[in-house]
Amino acid sequence: MPAEVLPTDTTALLSAAVNRAAERLRAGEVIGVPTETVYGLAANALDPDAVARIYAVKGRPAHNPIIVHVDSRAMARECSSHWTPLAERLAAAFWPGALTLVVARSSRIPEIVTAGGSTVGVRWPQHPFMNAVIRACGFPLAAPSANLANRLSPTNAGHVLGQLGDQLSLIVDGGDCNVGIESTVVDATGDVPRILRPGMIDEPAIFAAAGIAPGAVGNTITPAGPLRSPGQLEKHYSPRARLAVRSWRDDDDLARQMTALGARPEHTYILAHTCLPHRLPPSQVILIPDDAEAFARALYAQLHRCDDAGAEWILVEALPDIPAWAGLTDRLRRASTPGPGSGSG
Ligand code: TXA
Ligand code: MG
Repeated sequence: MPAEVLPTDTTALLSAAVNRAAERLRAGEVIGVPTETVYGLAANALDPDAVARIYAVKGRPAHNPIIVHVDSRAMARECSSHWTPLAERLAAAFWPGALTLVVARSSRIPEIVTAGGSTVGVRWPQHPFMNAVIRACGFPLAAPSANLANRLSPTNAGHVLGQLGDQLSLIVDGGDCNVGIESTVVDATGDVPRILRPGMIDEPAIFAAAGIAPGAVGNTITPAGPLRSPGQLEKHYSPRARLAVRSWRDDDDLARQMTALGARPEHTYILAHTCLPHRLPPSQVILIPDDAEAFARALYAQLHRCDDAGAEWILVEALPDIPAWAGLTDRLRRASTPGPGSGSG
């Protein structure tokens, strides 16, 4: 039986969904939930059997730890054996929000959540449903993105239903995600923040909040950080179609690049924000905003749409090389099909 999808568009529906969801979570079940970044697959973070079900539903390798979601800084501190001054500053600046802090794991958090590691990723999300359901449960929720391992993250309830609907009993529909890509993951175990996964809260914002002048330390973004963020070592965030990031001068230049890739025009979709192609059928040319936040909100839904339309190739116009776009550049790099000049690694 496919999952039941619970709407939340009125306060009555929202509180009914919170009650139903909390009931399932207390019973050790895994459910699909909205957050402001992407949808999550949630279970009681303090119940190792419930967390084991997350790994099973997602097909997630056991070495990849899961983020714990809380509804307050107090609950975050309870998840950690050593809450650093840096963690406190970043939490004060950005929570609730799209920031995950990696801190020392408290013994309350079962090892399965952290894949046996001594640190735990903690996030206080902004979505009203998540805050209400965590409050109702009284325990933190472990939740990875609600997609099958290595596939595209969902940004609406329909995406979750499509990928995992037959494995879940309940999905809460909290609307389209407001941020649209996964949270920024920052190692806050020391004095200096280390960005393990870039996101929409960018490096300058994190350093400003940490009270550290930019350039005072070396490169702190560790995109494939040596086993520090295990999930970062894998191909990730991928649509089914092959994907390449490219710049083109004009239609001729784009056509040449498509030929070089072996991308057949009738099965190629273009995501452009600045240089719009004119020769492909208009239904295959998707305009996404030339603004990092609006681009993030649209990106995954458009990639899902290309997949649903049967795209073989998706060509995405290269993004500006500035910090505000770094999270998006990272996701597109991971989604890229390996090959000569694809920039994927
Ligand atoms: O926005 C988000 O972060 C979403 C929503 C649902 O909160 N969650 C999410 O979870 O993207 P997931 O599991 O798909 O990605 C979490 C990333 C993975 O790359 C994982 O390796 C890393 O965070 N991570 C989790 N715990 C960690 C830890 N203790 N140390 C280092 N990296 C960690
Ligand atoms: Mg994920």
